[in-house]
Amino acid sequence: MSKQHLDRILQSQGFGTRKWCAELIADGEVSINGGVVTDSRITFETNGLQFTLFGEVWTYREHIYLALNKPADYECSRKPSHHPRVLSLLPEQFALRDVQPVGRLDHDTTGLLLMSDDGAFIHAQSSPKRHIPKVYVATTHDPVTPQLVAKLLSGVKLHDEPASLAAVTCRMVDTHQLEIVLEQGKYHQVKRMLAAAGNHCTALRRTEIGGLKLNALRLAEGEWCYLNEAQRILLTTG
Ligand code: URA
Repeated sequence: MSKQHLDRILQSQGFGTRKWCAELIADGEVSINGGVVTDSRITFETNGLQFTLFGEVWTYREHIYLALNKPADYECSRKPSHHPRVLSLLPEQFALRDVQPVGRLDHDTTGLLLMSDDGAFIHAQSSPKRHIPKVYVATTHDPVTPQLVAKLLSGVKLHDEPASLAAVTCRMVDTHQLEIVLEQGKYHQVKRMLAAAGNHCTALRRTEIGGLKLNALRLAEGEWCYLNEAQRILLTTG
């Protein structure tokens, strides 16, 4: 439980500097429990607090944890070079809260991307020590063969990687599609593993992270949702 001044609360949620938030409040843009609040020095219990700003209802969140169904042609980097940032698919104030992708997907990779402003969560999810399985569906240029699957399972040597890298599981889904599960998150790993195994990845989609399935979230491409407590626990313990 924590009580905070209203201007501080809005600031913590990414709506601007404390001064700017105090002005929004004074201008009558914020209401709580159906009533406009114009005094920014009133304190509110933050736990479960709902407020309306510019007519939109927001719930106070100490941290943000969300899942995005990433479309192609969006970049995960802070300073994108050729495409818009994935952050541009989220409410504007999330960038001010420093919400960032948990790991990266290539600009042309689609599917499940976690995002958060909780450094400890990002660190834990990205740690190679946790061996979090990530499931990808790769479309291939040449047909998928039992030999290709066998090579990916036994391990392939990538340039710059001291040891060979193997899929945790790998299975053919269609003549030109395979599902591959990896526990590492090396640069372009799926694409490079497929190339090293003698094929070429023409499209890539991440469908699952640590037991969290994109299908179950029912998000259209470009849509996102907050993770609930159970989903967060699944990711942090599973
Ligand atoms: N492997 C890749 O090659 N690209 C991604 O975006 C993710 C995994």
